[in-house]
Amino acid sequence: MSLPAVENFVPQRALVELVPLETAHVDHIMSWVNDREIVGNLAAFSGKPFTRDDELQYIEKMIASKDDRVFSIFSPTTEGTKEERRYLGQCGIHQIFRRSGLARASLIVADRADMGRGIGSAALARLLDIAFTPAPGGEGLHKMWLMCFRENERARRMYGRIGFVEEGILREEYLHEDRHRDMVRMSVLAREWTQTPTPPLT
Ligand SMILES: CC(C)(COP(=O)(O)OP(=O)(O)OC[C@H]1O[C@@H](n2cnc3c(N)ncnc32)[C@H](O)[C@@H]1OP(=O)(O)O)[C@@H](O)C(=O)NCCC(=O)NCCS
Repeated sequence: MSLPAVENFVPQRALVELVPLETAHVDHIMSWVNDREIVGNLAAFSGKPFTRDDELQYIEKMIASKDDRVFSIFSPTTEGTKEERRYLGQCGIHQIFRRSGLARASLIVADRADMGRGIGSAALARLLDIAFTPAPGGEGLHKMWLMCFRENERARRMYGRIGFVEEGILREEYLHEDRHRDMVRMSVLAREWTQTPTPPLT
């Protein structure tokens, strides 16, 4: 079932910075949230279009939530230059179940032109650093899981490279467009996250 694992992959964390989601990011989110090529891969986004007000409500809900930590992905600000940091996407730790130290990971690269450059891997590595770093710097979680469409091989390969393991297939789990789709559930444990973490951003 699993795609072949890739060993010794080192994500280039320096490609991205994670900034806690804020209402000022709403127009960045509007740039991708109704783009079917981007969100067509996400079960949660298979429905009606989102308005700017929907997104503002979502951001406020995420900021207030104790069970979610959502980040906007930006390019790093290069010290000594005037270059503005660029918005690249969004990632998050969701449905945190503290008793078991369990949470779901999410990841979106906002612009097709930015895909395939290591940005998703870098952002996910920083997200896992935060998830697995003990409190107060991070969440001190035990396990991160995610689900993606079985046919989303690009995402499955990327998650596998980072260290996620395929746990199983949820048969015909989500009705998406014309038919029910199989979902793959993947996970990584804190003890498996052996890459040297960089300090998480606050
Ligand atoms: C899936 C997704 C998050 C991957 O993000 P990404 O930034 O394109 O991923 P990466 O660039 O890190 O890796 C993807 C490819 O780039 C290649 N790559 C190029 N330069 C790279 C680098 N410096 N570091 C890592 N990978 C690099 C990888 O080899 C990989 O190739 P492959 O697809 O042949 O395996 C992104 O494509 C996306 O947002 N898609 C739409 C939404 C989606 O599907 N989300 C996941 C839902 S579960």
